[in-house]
Amino acid sequence: MDKPKVFVTRVIPEEGLRLVQEACDAEVWMEEVPPSRETLLTKVQGIEGLLCLLTDEVDAELMDAAGPGLEVISNFAVGYDNIDVGAATARGIRIGNTPGVLTETTADMAFALLMAAARRIVEGAEYVKAGKWRTWGPTLLLGHDVHGATLGIVGMGRIGAEVARRATGFNMQVIYFDPYCDPGKAPFVDVGLRCTLDELLAESDFVSLHVPLTSETQHLIDAQALAKMRRTAVLVNTSRGPIVDSEALYEALAAGKISYAALDVTDPEPLPPDHKLLTLDNCLVVPHIASASWATRTKMAVMAAENLLAGLRGEPLPHCVNPD
Ligand code: GLV
Repeated sequence: MDKPKVFVTRVIPEEGLRLVQEACDAEVWMEEVPPSRETLLTKVQGIEGLLCLLTDEVDAELMDAAGPGLEVISNFAVGYDNIDVGAATARGIRIGNTPGVLTETTADMAFALLMAAARRIVEGAEYVKAGKWRTWGPTLLLGHDVHGATLGIVGMGRIGAEVARRATGFNMQVIYFDPYCDPGKAPFVDVGLRCTLDELLAESDFVSLHVPLTSETQHLIDAQALAKMRRTAVLVNTSRGPIVDSEALYEALAAGKISYAALDVTDPEPLPPDHKLLTLDNCLVVPHIASASWATRTKMAVMAAENLLAGLRGEPLPHCVNPD
């Protein structure tokens, strides 16, 4: 029997890729950067399975370009805002994602960004490398304490809950905003006080974002929201770039309306080297690497492969976004 034809839009860790290559007639995009839209539309023609990344826009046009044989789209990510779920469901295509395995790794990164911002780690490292370190200075690179500070978590889902758990170890006060979470039910951890978004913005020393990107959350942190934050506050974003209005964030940071932003995700992404956010000393940007640990990316690859293969066999996906 012929092996099912699939397209894998980037090289993923070996353990997952091997599973796909053994079971499928797989074409793998070998470049560092994603295939162009045109290339993607050509490559998907006649495939039964697509293993894609959050950088690939998978919409109705692409599904139609693939044709009626497309059974399954497996996203190598927990977030799936790059996929038109309605269009896939309407075509009977199942979508897989990789929840759970990256929760703690992403929470670690949110905390790393928070700590780096509070204690000026990047500035300190640059200071030393620039040969400016002449002596121990009583007021050199003073930052803010993490212990005792208030952390506002926007979105108390799996990742938000793990950030909250970490914060308790650092003796922080945790408050959270989440209109959907059900306190008492997993993944909620009973460590924080629920509040409105306005209360959270006004009271937090650190605001950490953990919501999915939807029409409701796009630009949740806009100029008005930023104006409600403390002048000393730090914004941490490890969710999706468009949750924050980049233009408004630039204005707020440049005018000192908030003190610092530490971003794993940006809008646009990648952030062009000449983007004005990168001209600011009080903005730290890393290239969307919150889930980038060896162990986690390997687990994500295996999970994405297992979703793909289950879909191709006509079995329920271990992690399905649109099971109904
Ligand atoms: C990464 O951002 C993911 O959604 O997995």
